[in-house]
Amino acid sequence: MAIVTFSSPLMHKDKAVYAIAGDTRTALALAEEHKIPIPFECRDGNCASCLIEVTYDNPERKKAIMLTEKEKLTLKELGKLTQQDIEDAEVRDMPPRYRLACQFIARDEDVTITFTGTPGGS
Ligand code: FES
Repeated sequence: MAIVTFSSPLMHKDKAVYAIAGDTRTALALAEEHKIPIPFECRDGNCASCLIEVTYDNPERKKAIMLTEKEKLTLKELGKLTQQDIEDAEVRDMPPRYRLACQFIARDEDVTITFTGTPGGS
């Protein structure tokens, strides 16, 4: 089970929710279920409205990172992901700082998700 903590200037305090092991819901779906106002439009990795910053509570515990081609392309176009970030993620299991909430799935690692509330801002 993962604890996902959402933090934003839009919320008067941080909110921690549980993602059950094997849960394949995205961070955006989890946020919506708990009425956490992450902006979104396409839900498909194309518009970047749902840009989030993800920090791992235990960065030493490395897990394979899954980035879809769509997410890589969108984050690269935004200037939020470099080729080095992709290589670090795919070869060294080092998670990139920025993700798309509609693509990111928290597995069994505890994370903090930060968003500004401005579409495409993080
Ligand atoms: Fe469009 Fe996530 S909602 S990229």
